[in-house]
Amino acid sequence: MSETLLELRNIKKSFGTTDVLNGIGLSISRGEFITFLGASGCGKTTTLRIIAGLEKPDEGQVLLEGRDVTYLEPHQRDVNTVFQNYALFPHMNVEANVGYGLKIRKVPKEEIKKRVSDMLKLVQLDGYEKRMPSELSGGQKQRVAIARALINSPKLLLLDEPLGALDLKLRRAMQTELKRLQKKLGITFLYITHDQEEAINMSDRIVVMREGKFEQIGTPDEIYNCPKTSYVADFVGNANIIEGIVRQAGEEEILVETEGQIVKAVSDPGVQAGDKISLAVRRENMKVCGDCEEGLEAVLKDKSFQAGQLHMTLNLNSGKEITVSRYGMDAPLSQGQKVRISWEPQHAVPVDIRREA
Ligand SMILES: Nc1ncnc2c1ncn2[C@@H]1O[C@H](COP(=O)(O)OP(=O)(O)OP(=O)(O)O)[C@@H](O)[C@H]1O
Ligand SMILES: [Mg+2]
Repeated sequence: MSETLLELRNIKKSFGTTDVLNGIGLSISRGEFITFLGASGCGKTTTLRIIAGLEKPDEGQVLLEGRDVTYLEPHQRDVNTVFQNYALFPHMNVEANVGYGLKIRKVPKEEIKKRVSDMLKLVQLDGYEKRMPSELSGGQKQRVAIARALINSPKLLLLDEPLGALDLKLRRAMQTELKRLQKKLGITFLYITHDQEEAINMSDRIVVMREGKFEQIGTPDEIYNCPKTSYVADFVGNANIIEGIVRQAGEEEILVETEGQIVKAVSDPGVQAGDKISLAVRRENMKVCGDCEEGLEAVLKDKSFQAGQLHMTLNLNSGKEITVSRYGMDAPLSQGQKVRISWEPQHAVPVDIRREA
């Protein structure tokens, strides 16, 4: 299962004087669904284009099944790509679009017909053979694009925000469908998105990218529940980040001084007394209480209600802003009120651990 399909070794790339990729490395296993998650401009598409052969790195290597393909042309590697904007041939019907790759490889007509038909069944578009792209919805076009990429049975399918142009409901449905296809065909998927939910729902592993580097690589569970840096905790989990100093490190809990007070957090084998750390506490895991004795002192600044959730903005004594979210409208607190913010220790995760030498 853990046989390596693709390996990136210390890839560097600049455009002009801008360093876009700063030495990234990664191994992807055969059959894996791996997602690159990161903010706009962090280098996701550039990485994908280097893997596809559409761009050459300045340094480093791309290995496919152990073979160095860094300087091979796109058609010389067993990799296919699906882009955000479908890029179907507008003057060809669905059947011709999907069969195109086989036609240029001179596969016999009868076989093309059979394989196109099988592929359209797989993406649930049988019966659509004669439709033109202009007669399809966005989701149907994207399924044609996926069928067209999959018909060549690539070893690796690269997908660059393939659902980006679809509305939320269709996106969710297509996520499930793509995941089903990937499992069924056993093809390795390298998927790009900047939607955390999408990454968590679909992936075996997530690579969180930031400014041309891999910030953290792990399973969705590891990335969501055990972020290593405040960037990951905030980007993936919408966490509040509170800086402090570890005063006592126990086996299960640690005591952290912040805002002149002591709070509890879950222990981490890498943490010892004296370390500077940040605590990541997700918005929905914080409790706000008007008449409690314990917790960080704060003042409620603002309340708003969005998508079934109550969002509260608060200021700690230092002025630091905290956001707390919860379902329902059950907080009888008013603006300007003094409150306390608390959490269960296991919901405060130490990140950005810094130790003075
Ligand atoms: N051909 C190019 N020439 C110059 N700069 C480029 C080129 N391609 C990409 N860049 C720059 O490289 C950086 C990374 O771009 P890239 O397209 O890889 O980002 P991305 O993570 O895919 O972002 P997005 O989520 O917006 O698609 C950006 O700052 C971009 O402006
Ligand atoms: Mg991109």
